[in-house]
Amino acid sequence: MAGTSREQQEPGARRADFGFRRVPAEEHPSLVRGVFDSVAGRYDLMNDLMSGGLHRLWKQALIDWLAPRDGLVLADIAAGTGDIAIRALERVTRRGGAAEAILCDPNESMLRIARDRCIDAGMVRGPRIVCCAAEALALPDRVAGACTISFGLRNATDRPAALAEMRRILAPGGHFLCLEFSPAVLPALAPLYDAYSYNVLPWLGEHVADDRDSYRYLAESIRRFPAPGALAGEMREAGFGNVHWRAMSAGIVALHSGWRT
Ligand SMILES: C[S@@+](CC[C@H](N)C(=O)[O-])C[C@H]1O[C@@H](n2cnc3c(N)ncnc32)[C@H](O)[C@@H]1O
Repeated sequence: MAGTSREQQEPGARRADFGFRRVPAEEHPSLVRGVFDSVAGRYDLMNDLMSGGLHRLWKQALIDWLAPRDGLVLADIAAGTGDIAIRALERVTRRGGAAEAILCDPNESMLRIARDRCIDAGMVRGPRIVCCAAEALALPDRVAGACTISFGLRNATDRPAALAEMRRILAPGGHFLCLEFSPAVLPALAPLYDAYSYNVLPWLGEHVADDRDSYRYLAESIRRFPAPGALAGEMREAGFGNVHWRAMSAGIVALHSGWRT
């Protein structure tokens, strides 16, 4: 059946966005894994270069909203190299308390770096590191007092399933925070932002991480992600209550908050 798409052959076949490409859902996780396997070693450096250090402020805003306290169990999903968990635990420790972090990510290359960074940060007991995707968290129900996902939800194959899982692992009254790029950039900034995304990002990817395509994927996946109002609706559909969000940096990034009621 040359020239006939799989969707036409099998109308029920699930598909997912991989950047601007629609791919069979079962292929999506390995395509995403390829991206992060490729960039893991340069991921932290690239974050600083791409955002001019702004990602630190965005993450700080998440930690401020989270306001982690003594005794908190934090599940950080799509934990990557551990930025959020390390920042949250350091915040509590600095105030004389102790908190616990569970880092989940399906990519072992990223988690290896997270483990080394946690050791370097002096976490003697260390966080729990669990290799799993957001759509199928290998964690018990109601295990965490807070759940965060930073620049991770965009990579999920099945976003509703991921949101449902993150709600499942929260204890009642638990706080969910999602930090993510947003397609709803201030219109006046859009031409400049597009030029940056489609030219500078892939160029940086090629010259710093030796991978142009992964940073093209980043630019494209942002455009396929829901605008903040729509994501807030998806969170409510997943069962989160008291959902609020705020845009940062002219709408380049949005921070969503919801609660397990
Ligand atoms: C852009 S990094 C974000 C890392 C870190 N949270 C941060 O803010 O720097 C995205 C992470 O999402 C992970 N990821 C990809 N697909 C995922 C999925 N289905 N569920 C959870 N994490 C996923 C990747 O392995 C990668 O570590």
